[in-house]
Amino acid sequence: MKRIVIFASGSGSNAENIIGFFQTKETAKVTHVLTNNERAKVLERCKRLEVNSLVFDRETFFKTDEILNFLKKEADLIILAGFLWKVPENIVANFPNKIVNIHPALLPKYGGKGMYGNHVHKAVKNNNEVETGITIHYVNEHYDEGAIVFQAKTTLNEEDSVEDIAKKVHELEYKHYPKVIEDIILSE
Ligand code: GAR
Repeated sequence: MKRIVIFASGSGSNAENIIGFFQTKETAKVTHVLTNNERAKVLERCKRLEVNSLVFDRETFFKTDEILNFLKKEADLIILAGFLWKVPENIVANFPNKIVNIHPALLPKYGGKGMYGNHVHKAVKNNNEVETGITIHYVNEHYDEGAIVFQAKTTLNEEDSVEDIAKKVHELEYKHYPKVIEDIILSE
């Protein structure tokens, strides 16, 4: 049974979906959710789902080994689900191919610093893209540049609003992210 630690900064709907998926599985379970945001809705979800949570601040994350040491003890796989800070080098270096992120677009398009959540969907809309999608990838020391594990696409219409695009992308995320995580675990 592998131990998954999730990092999330906001709503945490993906985190909840992943927690639920592994509740009935023998392969893995989500043991903790870590967040940089003490007001994140994901914390309410953790309470309701009875999953441990931990809030950390910038200083602790970037200037100490506290989170690294926690992960060394507690995590077999680290899953980023709407986590908005860059993962520091000490953590990346200690978890090669053990940190996985989901990006709400078809990388390498619409990636990089500042490209998260609705900023991505707005850019996709402004460029009149006829499709968008999700990218699940390993995390390295550069934003959104690690090896791609999986992509899925959805078509867009001119009438789709930013919210419509976000909804289509979220649906792909809910459908695929837990399964791709399980495939990664099973292939080890
Ligand atoms: C998700 O769409 C995820 O792909 C995106 O944030 C959203 C979080 O939603 N991540 C990024 O933009 C990372 N660059 P959630 O909190 O409801 O899971």
